[in-house]
Amino acid sequence: MSDLFERIEAAAASIRQTIGEFPATAIVLGSGLGHLAEQVASPRIVAYADIPGFPTPTIEGHQGNLIVGRLGSAAVAMLQGRVHYYEGYDLETVTFPIRVLAHLGVTTLILTAATGGIDLSLKKGDIVCLTDHINGLGCNPLRGSNDLRLGKRFPDMTAVYSARLRSIALEEAALLGIVLKPGVYFALPGPSYETPAEIRMLRTLGADVVGMSTVPEAIVARHGGMDVLAFAMVTNAAAGITGEMIDHAEVIDVAQEAGRRLGRIIEQVVSRLKA
Ligand code: HPA
Repeated sequence: MSDLFERIEAAAASIRQTIGEFPATAIVLGSGLGHLAEQVASPRIVAYADIPGFPTPTIEGHQGNLIVGRLGSAAVAMLQGRVHYYEGYDLETVTFPIRVLAHLGVTTLILTAATGGIDLSLKKGDIVCLTDHINGLGCNPLRGSNDLRLGKRFPDMTAVYSARLRSIALEEAALLGIVLKPGVYFALPGPSYETPAEIRMLRTLGADVVGMSTVPEAIVARHGGMDVLAFAMVTNAAAGITGEMIDHAEVIDVAQEAGRRLGRIIEQVVSRLKA
């Protein structure tokens, strides 16, 4: 297998052939947000399957397309669908598309994901803007030899989620009349949902929402010097809080509804960044 840097260069070169000039802002569309891609004007679309080294999603709702075009008044790239650790990919593979975006000149990365609400004040459909995370995956995407062309061996993680971007998001959400709550994301490998005892543990550890993605992408983005803004849609109360079972189909339904509101916030944020 060839060296990571060479594989990133090869993927970026193949994307450039179709896309030409690449935007500085990219958005990862998690479960329920795939529809945001339909709002992109003059889209140019490349299937992940046509990009060398890009992993292809195995779960429904994660289409697997790179889309470049205009959202609101801004040029953006979208990853329509992601792959997760639980699908069997290692974290270097899970985060490979983020590496390629960095290589293509993306400096602002917006992450979105469906999550379970741990904090008792969070309700189904709430949107959380991440202030921090806890990596409970048991591994790190930067494990292995470090290529200094990609970033430092020991990158700082004091401020993973940009305070500047978060305050822009808060302002734009307020203008739209949409409530955005702050919170800490706990990443677990999944794919089983948590037990009530695990959720009590996560709450004690300081987590507000729990999910199965986002954190490896945020770590790699910071390693590569990107500014990160991340949103978690609360699709269900985490296990044991209401006594209701957690059902994937309902998670997707709620994510789609919350995704419409989140899409409006994102459109305003990217338009503002461009200005
Ligand atoms: N736990 C973990 N991941 C999730 C959940 C949850 O309750 N809901 C949506 N993604």
